Amino acid sequence: MHTGTTLTQFIIEEQRRTAGATGDFTSLLNDVVIACKAISNVVNKGALLGVMGSLDSENIQGETQKKLDVITNDIMIGANEWGGHLAGMASEEMDELYPIPSQYPLGKYLLVFDPLDGSSNVDVNISVGTIFSILKAPVAGRAAKTEDFLQPGAQQVCAGYAIYGSSTMLVLTFGHGTHGFTLDRDVGEFVLTHPSMKIPTETREFAINASNMRFWEKPVQRYVDECLAGKTGPRGKDFNMRWVASMVAEVHRILTRGGIFMYPKDTKDPAKAGKLRLLYEANPMAFIVEQAGGAATTGRERILDLSPEGLHQRVPVILGSKSEVDTVTGYHHEKA
Ligand code: AHG
Ligand code: MN
Ligand code: MN
Ligand code: MN
Repeated sequence: MHTGTTLTQFIIEEQRRTAGATGDFTSLLNDVVIACKAISNVVNKGALLGVMGSLDSENIQGETQKKLDVITNDIMIGANEWGGHLAGMASEEMDELYPIPSQYPLGKYLLVFDPLDGSSNVDVNISVGTIFSILKAPVAGRAAKTEDFLQPGAQQVCAGYAIYGSSTMLVLTFGHGTHGFTLDRDVGEFVLTHPSMKIPTETREFAINASNMRFWEKPVQRYVDECLAGKTGPRGKDFNMRWVASMVAEVHRILTRGGIFMYPKDTKDPAKAGKLRLLYEANPMAFIVEQAGGAATTGRERILDLSPEGLHQRVPVILGSKSEVDTVTGYHHEKA
């Protein structure tokens, strides 16, 4: 029985379409996928392995680290540092970039990742995921410097996430559409189940953490009020609200049935322009969403156009069904 198109086959067919491809990228992506399978295993076994709960440590974000934040970070490092495809790595869980150990060859790509997204959910068995982004190193074979990672999201060569939910799926884009694969544990391979995912331009579902309402900027408040007004209001339709507190789960729902996700700039902590990080959350998800026909802005500008200022820079995120994102972005541009 044919197993369907596997992710390995899909990547190699992509390599064939890429002039001058050396197989380096294919091999790098294969290592990332193996890491995601290993993380799926650990997350799925959870309490059986005694890996639930938090550590005493705090990461550079000021967050108390879950045991699994560190375990999954180590899995991503261990699966990717030896392959000879990378000039360096950067992660939510590491203050600085991760240099490739001297015993391994240096390569031509940079790997940026959030090893466990939504980790506050891992103890309560709600879907979590891994987000990754692949950039070209400015100088192949030279050890990466921090500034090498600070490329606009539009320069990503690949972005993807694994979601460890009722099924384990991997969703990725190379810039030619967004495609979803489901892990067949009997074969140990991801199989193409959602080719060319498309986000409906219209939606009746919005996602935001409403407990931050008093801190929102006016355009966001205006849009949410209109959603809450339902069909009697200016939007002329009733809305539904969701908030999972795992960006991967929100984005996956939106890719599957539409919606708008907002983690806006808020005045709760003026020093932070919102909670989500540009390099390993906003940029990869913006690439994935745009390739599925959606939109992703900070409210004021396209996320993929931003020039990053630091590895852990935060940005406001408004992404999903294009007509809704355009509406909210439009409200930000109206004269106050
Ligand atoms: P992470 O677990 O990698 O730190 O990311 C959590 C993020 C994102 O996944 C989610 O959308 C958001 O934080 C939830 O924030 P609140 O807990 O403030 O709702
Ligand atoms: Mn975190
Ligand atoms: Mn995250
Ligand atoms: Mn994380």
